[in-house]
Amino acid sequence: MDFLPPQIAAYAETYTAPEPAVLSSLNRETNAKVLMPRMLSGHMQGRILSMLSKMVRPERILEIGTYTGYSAICLCEGLSDGGILHTIDINEELASMVRRYFREANLEDKIKYHTGNAVNILPQINEIFDLVFIDADKENYSLYFDLVFDKVKKGGYIIADNVLWSGKVTEPEPAMDKDTRALAAYCRKLQHDKRLENILLPVRDGLMISRKLI
Ligand SMILES: C[S@@+](CC[C@H](N)C(=O)[O-])C[C@H]1O[C@@H](n2cnc3c(N)ncnc32)[C@H](O)[C@@H]1O
Repeated sequence: MDFLPPQIAAYAETYTAPEPAVLSSLNRETNAKVLMPRMLSGHMQGRILSMLSKMVRPERILEIGTYTGYSAICLCEGLSDGGILHTIDINEELASMVRRYFREANLEDKIKYHTGNAVNILPQINEIFDLVFIDADKENYSLYFDLVFDKVKKGGYIIADNVLWSGKVTEPEPAMDKDTRALAAYCRKLQHDKRLENILLPVRDGLMISRKLI
C-alpha cells in the first residue's frame, strides 16, 4: 500500500538520489521474471537503506530475506573497508540470479549469501553485527529478533521491514490475520524492551528502527 499521496511520493523521488544502474536492472528483471516483485524494496526504500548504512558505516551487516538481492546491494553501499554483509534466504530458486547481480555489483567478496531457513542458519553465523535488516517471513520476526539480539553490538541497529503491513496492524486484534498479529506483536515486544530505543518510520510499508542501548 502507498501511504503517501502520489504527488508527494513523486516529489520525494525527484529530490532523492537516482537508482544506480545495477539496481534499476535488477528491479526491472525482478518485475519481469520473478513471483511477487512487490517484495523488492524499490528505489525509495533502497536509497533509505543505503543512506542509513552510510550513516552507520557498519563492519558487519546481517540481512534476513535476500529475495533477488536488491536491499543487500543497497545496504552494502555503506559498508566500511573490509566490511561484510551476510544475507539469508530460503528460496534456492533465486540463487543464480542473486549471485549474478552480486557479481555485477562487484560485491562477490563482500557478501556471504546463505541459502536455507534463517532459523537454522542464524545460530551458525558467529559474527557481531552493527546493522541487522529483518525482511523475511513475518511470523518469525520476534524469533529472529531473539536469535540475533546477542549478536548485535551495543549501539547497533535492528531494522524490520513491513511493520505497518498495509495499515492492517491498526485493525482490532480479533480481525487480524496471522502475519498482521505477528508484526503487531513484534513492535509491541520491542517497544516494551528497555534495552532498545525505537522509531517506527511510516516509510513505504513501515520500517521499525531499533537501537540497542546495552
Ligand atoms: C520481502 S522478501 C525480501 C526482500 C528483499 N529484502 C528486498 O528488499 O529486496 C522476503 C524473503 O524472505 C524469504 N524467506 C521467507 N521465509 C524465510 C526463512 N524462514 N528463512 C529465510 N528466508 C526466508 C523469502 O524467500 C523471500 O525471498
